[in-house]
Amino acid sequence: MEAIILVGGFGIRLRPLTLATPKALLPLANVPMLERLVRSLPKRVTKVALAVHHQADAITAHFAAIDCGCEVITVPETEPLGTGGAMRNCREHVTGTALVFNGDIVSSLDIEAMLEQHRATGALGTLALWEVDDPSRYGVAELDGNAIIGFQEKPAAGEERSRLINAGTYLLEPKAFEMIPAGRKVSVEREIFTQLAGAGLHGFPFAGSWIDAGTPESYLAANAMLLEREATAAHPGASVRGNALIAADAEIASSIVGPDTVIGPGVSLDRCVVRRSVLLAGASATGAVIEDCILGPGVVVDSDRSRMVLAAEGELRF
Ligand code: GDD
Ligand code: MG
Repeated sequence: MEAIILVGGFGIRLRPLTLATPKALLPLANVPMLERLVRSLPKRVTKVALAVHHQADAITAHFAAIDCGCEVITVPETEPLGTGGAMRNCREHVTGTALVFNGDIVSSLDIEAMLEQHRATGALGTLALWEVDDPSRYGVAELDGNAIIGFQEKPAAGEERSRLINAGTYLLEPKAFEMIPAGRKVSVEREIFTQLAGAGLHGFPFAGSWIDAGTPESYLAANAMLLEREATAAHPGASVRGNALIAADAEIASSIVGPDTVIGPGVSLDRCVVRRSVLLAGASATGAVIEDCILGPGVVVDSDRSRMVLAAEGELRF
C-alpha cells in the first residue's frame, strides 16, 4: 500500500519558526514531526510519497539521510496545488487504496481498524474523525451512521452541523482521485469532500489522542502530549519538575526544567526556569524565566531580555 503525506504548506501560523525550517521538519519531542509520522506507518505501507512545495529541498535531504523502513520519495509542485491538487499530483505513485495524511497531525488513530471499516463499507473514501468543542478551525463532518452526508470546511462559528472534525487522515480509492481535477489548485476539503458527501464518503470516528500541531499553542500541546510517554527522568544541572525531555548533549547549569518542556540538542541553560516550553536546537538562555514559549534554533535569551513570549499571533514580544 502507498501513502501520501501533504507537507507543502507554508506553515504561516508557525512563523517565524517556519521561515528557516519547514513545518514538517519542526521537531516534536526532539524528532521531526514528519519523520515521526513516516516511522509510525503500518508495515503494509511500502512506499510514501511526500507532496512537497515550500522548502522542498530540506525535506528531500532529510529523508535521503535516514532509513525509515520504507521507500520515501518527494513529489514537488512548481506552484502550490492545494491539498487536493497535491494529492492528484501523486496519483501515478498510487496503485490501489491510498492512505493520505496531513503532515502536521499527531494521533493515536488505529489505521488497521480504519482500513477494516473502509473495506467493509465499500466507501470511495473514509475520513478519520475526531470530536472537538470548537470545530471552527477545522473541516466538519455530518454523519448518518458511518456515512458522511455533509462536509463544511472551517464553518463560521455557530454554523457547524456537528462537532466531529476531519482529523486529516484519509483512505481513498482510485476513483476518488480521478474526481480531483489535474493541473490546478484544488482544496480537497472544499471541492471534493463536499461533493463526495452523501455519495460514498464515510467517517471513522476515533478516541484516544489527536492534535494538529500547526499553531504555536497546538505545537506546544503536541509536545506536551508526547511527553506523557517520552519524558526522561533527570539531567545533570537540571532540577526536573513534571514531564520534561532534555537532549543528552544539552548543557544545563542551576536551572529548573518542566513541566511539559522539551530541551533540544545543543541547548545551553544557565540559571533559568523553563516551564511549558520547547527550546529548539542550539537555543541558549541565561538568567531567564521562559514560560509558554518556543525558542527557535540558535535563539539567544540573555538576562537583559529576561522574558520572551511567542504570542498566539506569531508576534515576538520582549
Ligand atoms: N503539497 C502541498 N501543497 N501540501 C499542502 C498545500 C499545497 O499547496 N497546502 C497545504 N498543504 C499541506 C500542509 O503542509 C499540511 O500538512 C496539510 O496540507 C494541511 O494543511 P493545513 O494548512 O495544516 O490545513 P489546516 O490545518 O488549516 O486544515 C486541514 O487540517 C485539519 C485537521 O488538522 C483540513 O484538512 C481540515 O479539514 C482539517 O480539519
Ligand atoms: Mg494543519
